[in-house]
Amino acid sequence: MGFVRELKSNIYSVGAIDWDRRLFDALISLPDGTSYNSYLVKGSEKIALIDAVDPTMIDVLIDNLDELKVKDIDYIVANHAEQDHSGGLPVLVEKYPNAKLVATPKCKDLLKELLLIPEEKIIAVQDGETISLGDKSLKFIYAPWVHWPETMFTFVEEDRVLFSCDCFGSHLATSDLFVEDEAAIYEPIKRYYAEIMMPFRSNVRKNLDKIKDLTIDIIAPSHGPAYNKPDFIISAYKEWSSDEVKNFVIVPYVSMHDSTKEMARYLVDALIRRNIPVKLFNLSNADIGKLAMDLVDAATIVVASPTVLVGPHPDAVCAVYLANALRPKVKFASIIGSYGWGSKMVETLKGMMTNLKVELIEPVVVKGFPKEEDYKALDKLADEIGKKHKEHNLI
Ligand code: FEO
Repeated sequence: MGFVRELKSNIYSVGAIDWDRRLFDALISLPDGTSYNSYLVKGSEKIALIDAVDPTMIDVLIDNLDELKVKDIDYIVANHAEQDHSGGLPVLVEKYPNAKLVATPKCKDLLKELLLIPEEKIIAVQDGETISLGDKSLKFIYAPWVHWPETMFTFVEEDRVLFSCDCFGSHLATSDLFVEDEAAIYEPIKRYYAEIMMPFRSNVRKNLDKIKDLTIDIIAPSHGPAYNKPDFIISAYKEWSSDEVKNFVIVPYVSMHDSTKEMARYLVDALIRRNIPVKLFNLSNADIGKLAMDLVDAATIVVASPTVLVGPHPDAVCAVYLANALRPKVKFASIIGSYGWGSKMVETLKGMMTNLKVELIEPVVVKGFPKEEDYKALDKLADEIGKKHKEHNLI
């Protein structure tokens, strides 16, 4: 059982809310569930469906189409080939045999490979191409790398509705069709941006530029609620994808016998005394999504790890691997930690930061528990961070 809601005249939301899902891609935690949005656009002559849903919820989409008494669909637009939007396509192709799938050439290729959809079922459209539904028309705008190389937006020109698929989305299960409370949705959209869009920051900027001259009344992504005040999400994406960072330090740490924890805590206190905002993350139980969110605009990251079998602790490896993969715009980095008899912890972690365009500030590595000269070195590190932030006009 699903439910249908009208987004604009003859444009309906027909997707599914997944209240229970707690993990995506076996990687990303979904504290607030998610949704797989799908939209039906009824023109005076033809009908198009925009995006399918995750295969686990295809029954909801079908129920919604039945509720609207849809007997035939002319076009099914696949803005993105990832299975949470395309997984329902094989069922739809069977149920609506006259429907043609519409996709970019790269998406066409992926739909054939991932879902075994026959080539003749798919029309490959060019960037800027338009398909008429009668009194409504669909304009296809290539939007590569938000989230995969094949992604595109679909714009209903007459109604000024932009279907953006993953871009501008949020993993949020909500009964709201539109964003009702911008303050409340800020964290879900930032978490989503951090985990999914941040690695493609320069592409986000290019795609924002591509749509800057469109007059948009509604942005309808395929996850989370739609925006009937699109400036809110466009401004947030502009800010996050810009090169601007904030006077803010994050200190992810893991500790076995409290020496590294003592160092991390001392550094945090030293930064607070210098009026530098800071957040400490215990990697043993941290919500990695929150760490990703803070990486969106932090100026500095200081990783604190003990030495395990000569190298870094695996929790620190995992955090640095993730930070490196997410390619945040962080400007400065350092490493602190303790060892017992020998360590290559710093070299190993440094070698894992290849995607981070950071200036490395002198690490502080301590034999055993920190002593007076080690606290002085941590104070010096805090001074150095303050100096760098000042030089970049962040303070
Ligand atoms: Fe929501 Fe990239 O899929």
